[in-house]
Amino acid sequence: MHTNSRRQASKLLRWSPAPDNSYNVGVFIDVFRRMTYRIAPSILSANFAKLGEEVRGVVAAGADLVHFDVMDNHYVPNLTIGPLVCEAIRPLTKALIDVHLMVKPVDRIIPDFAKAGADIISFHPEASEHIDRTIGLIKDQGCKAGLVFNPATPLDYLDHVLDKIDLVLIMSVNPGFGGQKFIAEALNKLRVARSRIAASGRDIWLAVDGGVRIDNIADVARAGADTFVAGSAIFGTTDYKATISAMRAELGKLKN
Ligand code: DX5
Ligand code: ZN
Repeated sequence: MHTNSRRQASKLLRWSPAPDNSYNVGVFIDVFRRMTYRIAPSILSANFAKLGEEVRGVVAAGADLVHFDVMDNHYVPNLTIGPLVCEAIRPLTKALIDVHLMVKPVDRIIPDFAKAGADIISFHPEASEHIDRTIGLIKDQGCKAGLVFNPATPLDYLDHVLDKIDLVLIMSVNPGFGGQKFIAEALNKLRVARSRIAASGRDIWLAVDGGVRIDNIADVARAGADTFVAGSAIFGTTDYKATISAMRAELGKLKN
């Protein structure tokens, strides 16, 4: 997903804490200059009565991905949208469709989303009996695979699969609803995840989901995220372009 030079830079610059657990600011500034940031509006907060218009609008406003939250009222206490809706919005945009599965069991529905045009499919390790098999299933369907970490889920699940996944998604709220408050501990988890990704030398996106807004996106980026899911912070405003631009302006400050 990233360029080779980006990968080499991240290897070279070692995105990892110093022994005293502080971070080398000079190194970080260099990394930020090379970082590609992506904004992923979550359509969970869109107006479903005019979803097509909302998808078109948010992509025209500068979204890089369309984040598609799938909830089953079993793994999480809410019920949302499925493959038919994914299929319906697919022709409306060339932007990547980033499917976040909050369903259990998870395997059965994966081929349906791949057929419906999903580009990235992410799942929660707790929702799969066989995590490696689920990753393989997503890849076999021609999609990028992501692993999602709830606030209290340890990153240990990365131990044996980091060489196979394309995206790590850190939840900064408990999954199930939009509009919740950002859980600050997610920043620590992002730092550790970023360091593990850098050590792997692989081209893995680090996403964050929940409570991301204009006023905290820079802090979240400083912790290592490169992909920002934001629902209510974007769809709760009237001017999506102004909101996404304001987010990018905050991220741009890190590069100066
Ligand atoms: C929560 C979802 C999020 C949600 C984020 O379970 O995974 O994608 O839409 O919404 P905000 O940005 O409003 O916290
Ligand atoms: Zn989500």
